Amino acid sequence: MIFEKQTHSIKHVAIIMDGNGRWANLRSHPRVWGHVRGSGVVADIVEEADNLGINALTMYAFSTENWSRPHTEVKVLFNLLHKFLKRERCRILKNNIRFKIMGDISNLPAQTKNLISELEIESQYNTGLKLTFAFGYGGRSEITQAFNKFVRSNPGQEITEEDIAKNLMIPDLGDVDLLIRTGGDHRVSNFLLWQIAYAEFYFTETKWPDFSTEEFRNILECVSKRERRFGSLNPACDFKTNVEQARTNNILLRG
Ligand code: IPE
Ligand code: IPE
Ligand code: MG
Repeated sequence: MIFEKQTHSIKHVAIIMDGNGRWANLRSHPRVWGHVRGSGVVADIVEEADNLGINALTMYAFSTENWSRPHTEVKVLFNLLHKFLKRERCRILKNNIRFKIMGDISNLPAQTKNLISELEIESQYNTGLKLTFAFGYGGRSEITQAFNKFVRSNPGQEITEEDIAKNLMIPDLGDVDLLIRTGGDHRVSNFLLWQIAYAEFYFTETKWPDFSTEEFRNILECVSKRERRFGSLNPACDFKTNVEQARTNNILLRG
């Protein structure tokens, strides 16, 4: 089976784009070279997600913890975001993509912040792919902010799961169906902690600069074959079938 547009249940894909530094070091280049090459891959994956009819693509570009990296590396990452926005603006708008940033971008240069808010406004009514970059983002911080937002407007009230979901940074993204992490590590590194409660995980050894649209498509095809039970049962072993029911009754009677 080939993974085809609109025939799948994978609506929201989240990607931890990891392995840039190691990719560069393995080639005797400084880490930032990996970021430069990695940023070139982003547009291809966005285009592929769009072609495949995925609703939302959320890409982890810079975490709250990444602030602890050397200043020069952080500056390069800011710069690459700026260049991406300039380079891809037209394509994003032409393809009816809605672009948003989630995270704290207050420390970004004013010019980059302007580019972000311009593109967010220009693309806000687009009805195609919801493309989100998590930048200056942390899952714990997002959940804490959601709590605080709720408490401020509903003092003294108990918070529900729905209240938390409604007060997340971009509530309409919904739950993540598939979380992909490149670079070989098997962890979530504070990404979308609330939204990944029932996500399928896929970890690949491929470092982000080598990640291709072909691998992306293969992962989607492979994951779309997985059975997602959400705590329930596989319909094939349906409890209500006569045989299953009779055997269960028997066990109950025997105590
Ligand atoms: C991911 O690549 C990009 C960011 C975290 C910004 P890394 O820079 O973490 O690369 P590795 O994991 O050290 O190879
Ligand atoms: C996660 O990668 C963050 C991004 C890809 C933006 P890290 O490289 O920062 O994660 P750890 O430190 O290995 O957990
Ligand atoms: Mg890393």
